[in-house]
Amino acid sequence: MSHQGIFGGKRIVLGVTGGIAAYKAATVCSRLVQAGALVDVVMTEAAQKFISQLTFQALTHRPIYTDMFHIPGGENIPHIVLADSADLLLIAPATANTIGKVANGLADNLLSAIALATPAPKLMAPAMETDMWRHPATQRNVATLKGWGIEVIGPAAGRLASGAMGEGRLVEPDEIVAAAQIILARQGDLAGRTVVVTAGGTREAIDPVRFVSNHSSGKMGYAVAEAARDRGAQVTLITSANLPAPFGMAVVRVDSAQEMLDAVLTATDQATALIMAAAVADFRPLTVAEQKIKKRGDTEGLVLELVRNPDILAEVAARKATGTGPDITVGFAAETHDLLANAHEKLKRKRLDLIVANDVTATDAGFAVDTNRVTLLGTDGSIEETPLMTKREVAETILDRVARFLTDS
Ligand code: PMT
Repeated sequence: MSHQGIFGGKRIVLGVTGGIAAYKAATVCSRLVQAGALVDVVMTEAAQKFISQLTFQALTHRPIYTDMFHIPGGENIPHIVLADSADLLLIAPATANTIGKVANGLADNLLSAIALATPAPKLMAPAMETDMWRHPATQRNVATLKGWGIEVIGPAAGRLASGAMGEGRLVEPDEIVAAAQIILARQGDLAGRTVVVTAGGTREAIDPVRFVSNHSSGKMGYAVAEAARDRGAQVTLITSANLPAPFGMAVVRVDSAQEMLDAVLTATDQATALIMAAAVADFRPLTVAEQKIKKRGDTEGLVLELVRNPDILAEVAARKATGTGPDITVGFAAETHDLLANAHEKLKRKRLDLIVANDVTATDAGFAVDTNRVTLLGTDGSIEETPLMTKREVAETILDRVARFLTDS
């Protein structure tokens, strides 16, 4: 699997049709290109009245297709070549006219011919005036498209080109890109699998305003969750980090180790894999003061008595022994010394399938930074060291192993 993310090397045919929202297709195009996709833009005649070919050419550095019978720089018929090579046909904006053509099997321009000829998944983002959208013909056509499994996103409600307020606006480019991402993910090697990921350092309350915690930012866990989502998994992210919720997954927010334990046991009941990137506090204050603890005198210190927290991975292993819980369990080991020996001991004690050993004394790896350098230890005795990589790339390496477990089992 490429480590570029879901769009890396994917061929997307972006159909642009003639509506005022055509200018927003340039943003969609730019986002896709930046994410690594090869974007072939097909413009209808009407689209070219609203936005120039040059805009898309400058964004994609590729020829723009407008004509069924003109072949830019090749010998093959464009609608066949584009239809056969596409991983996704995305039409944004899609006018009532183009929706009508596709729903009725017409192929009188290049875009509608591609729509008819391509076996690739299709996503359409309609944009038009409210009355056109609500017309029974459009609604029937959209129902036909959906019935064939074509995805339709939007339209959104808001201010339209006419100045009126209503349904018919093109949804925002980021939403279109996110929807494209989810569709492409269905072709990934974790499609149909359920993956539970934990992230962040748990917070153990001392009193209503203070807690004991650690330096985990959640970045590693979020990278694993996003990578699993992009490879097609249904993801539950259980997090104590303060990062925004990534799209396309269930996010469960927790504070303490106890809360994380409850959420993990619920989420992993039927899961394919649990990946514990969270830095779970091993200890919590014995008691939580109901009110803010006040200073008593200038010199008097405060002694906090700590007790052991439950070990989440140990509880998961105990459940597995009774036949419930995830098929594959991956732990992390954050170490400051004896990296491999300590990680190996945790692999065995926590009955994991894989452990990701992390030297957290490095300044470019471990807590809070965007990069990481890890060693993967497997139960089969395998040891795989990674170079310094982005956390996303580390996540992909871990998921390569998870995917391999699944094909081997
Ligand atoms: O979040 P970032 O800033 O991106 O940083 C990433 C990271 C350094 C936190 C991450 O890469 C990492 O190493 N996570 C594991 C941290 C940790 O708690 O390691 P540990 O060696 O204490 O625990 C071993 C494993 O047992 C971990 O998978 C942990 O989630 C789990 N555990 C720990 C304690 C506990 N009570 N229950 C557990 O299940």
